[in-house]
Amino acid sequence: MWRLHLLSLGIATSSPAQCRWQTERLNDLTAFPHYDNGTRPYMYEGQAVNVSVQLYIAAIQEVDQKGQQLALEGYFRWRWIDPRLAHTDNCGPLTLQLPAESVWMPDIYIDNSVSEWYGAGSLWLSPEGEAYRSVRFSHRLRCPMEFHLLPFDRQRCFVMIASYSSSIADINTGEFADGAAILPEGYGGTTEWKLEKLESEVTTEWFGAGEYRQGFRYVWVYLTLERRPNALIVFVFFTCLAFALVSWVGLFINPTAAPARVAIGVIPVLIMLNLESSVTSQLPPLNYMTWLTSFLFTIKLFSMTVVFEYGLVSWLMMIEGQRVRKFEAMKQMAIALKRDTEELQGHTAEEMVEWDEDDDEEVNLQVAQETEESHAPAEKLQAQRSKSTVSLASRRKAVVLSKGPEQIQEVWDMFDKDGSGCFDQHEIQLGFRKLGQYLSMDQVKRMFFRLGVDSATLDGEAFQRMLLDLNLYLPGTPFTLSYWERPPSLQVDIAFRYIYILALAVVTITWLALAGS
Ligand SMILES: *[C@@H]1O[C@H](CO)[C@@H](O)[C@H](O)[C@H]1NC(C)=O
Ligand SMILES: *[C@@H]1O[C@H](CO)[C@@H](O)[C@H](O)[C@H]1NC(C)=O
Repeated sequence: MWRLHLLSLGIATSSPAQCRWQTERLNDLTAFPHYDNGTRPYMYEGQAVNVSVQLYIAAIQEVDQKGQQLALEGYFRWRWIDPRLAHTDNCGPLTLQLPAESVWMPDIYIDNSVSEWYGAGSLWLSPEGEAYRSVRFSHRLRCPMEFHLLPFDRQRCFVMIASYSSSIADINTGEFADGAAILPEGYGGTTEWKLEKLESEVTTEWFGAGEYRQGFRYVWVYLTLERRPNALIVFVFFTCLAFALVSWVGLFINPTAAPARVAIGVIPVLIMLNLESSVTSQLPPLNYMTWLTSFLFTIKLFSMTVVFEYGLVSWLMMIEGQRVRKFEAMKQMAIALKRDTEELQGHTAEEMVEWDEDDDEEVNLQVAQETEESHAPAEKLQAQRSKSTVSLASRRKAVVLSKGPEQIQEVWDMFDKDGSGCFDQHEIQLGFRKLGQYLSMDQVKRMFFRLGVDSATLDGEAFQRMLLDLNLYLPGTPFTLSYWERPPSLQVDIAFRYIYILALAVVTITWLALAGS
């Protein structure tokens, strides 16, 4: 039962025959009469056994951000001295390879391992009794990650190596002379993560109290991983920025082209949602925003405001359309009133004088007319007819001058904001604005000039003259309009173009500055 399969690895300096004898002797562990694989070395000497460990990290298999795990593969190495297995007889230095199960081994394990796999391994024994164990391993390790700075984040993962059951009184875990972890020459990490630093330290943690207080030795290996941010920067950050600019370009599309405006407003938002979910799908559920996701979120909101802005612009355009319709109605009313006035102008001068005498007499005239009518002498019929015309014309004039019908009253009030009864240039400009007619100040001044008004205000009479002859006095399309003279929908559109691009620049610069700090 104590047969061992032993392999000679060392170089025998003595004759092969001598050494074969040596190997055969070691094939049977009974050759070590005092050896017991159930007890540790130095136990009876009352000393702890020094076990040094080392990870040869062949490769980082995976940095699993979602699971917050790090997968490593390589070789796990332990070294300790078991003086009971020294065999420096007469065969010179001879390193033996033993099946590991038959000898005592420290119960070294990795504390933050989530899953592990150990492959082929060997145990070599030097003539001095130094045991060297090397096992191929693959470990998935717990690695709490922090993504605030994504994609400029840096993760510090660790490997925590210790003896499972033995305190420092029995097993003293330490690191190899060349460190607790080594890498193949030139190994830099994965395609996504750069292995920036590999450090190690040995600590002693104390557990329990009083006489049960025991210290445990831990060997820590720290892997500092730095993300290679290019993929996220180019594919997510700049794509997002480019689509934010596409949204901006949408503000230059004619607002009457509703399908185009809506499409160019909504599509970038959808693309950003897509980008955002592609980033978050790689991350564990987080209760905070990372650099990249907060940027995506902010830019997404920006792009959304373009849709809201278009809603506002179309609402303003609808109102402007209503105003233009009102203007058309007013123009038609003015034409009708003008026809009436022109009829009046065809009458005799005395009639005109009579009208001018007192408009309020209209009713009296009517009363008089009716009274006269009741007597109805034939010779007075002509005069009566004339008076009846006077009455009609007078009524028409009253209509014009006293802002008679409601519409005129409405127009009057629309222009005369301060209720002064006269209209300054500003009031005229503003009044026409409310009717969907956008005039420049120059045009208003020219209109005053055409009306023969020298002062800066129109009186009621000139105002009515203008209203009745809009075609004559109202200037055509202005050559240039200042920002404040433009239609409100255009004002919103123009203002938003500047606000949007400025805010986008501010956000981008802020985020880049945050990344740099
Ligand atoms: C273990 O190492 C310590 C310090 O390096 C040393 O003092 C001690 O003698 C070693 N123990 C054994 C059993 O070799
Ligand atoms: C000691 O060695 C024997 C034989 O190789 C093996 O069956 C046994 O499990 C070992 N005991 C320990 C504690 O390793």
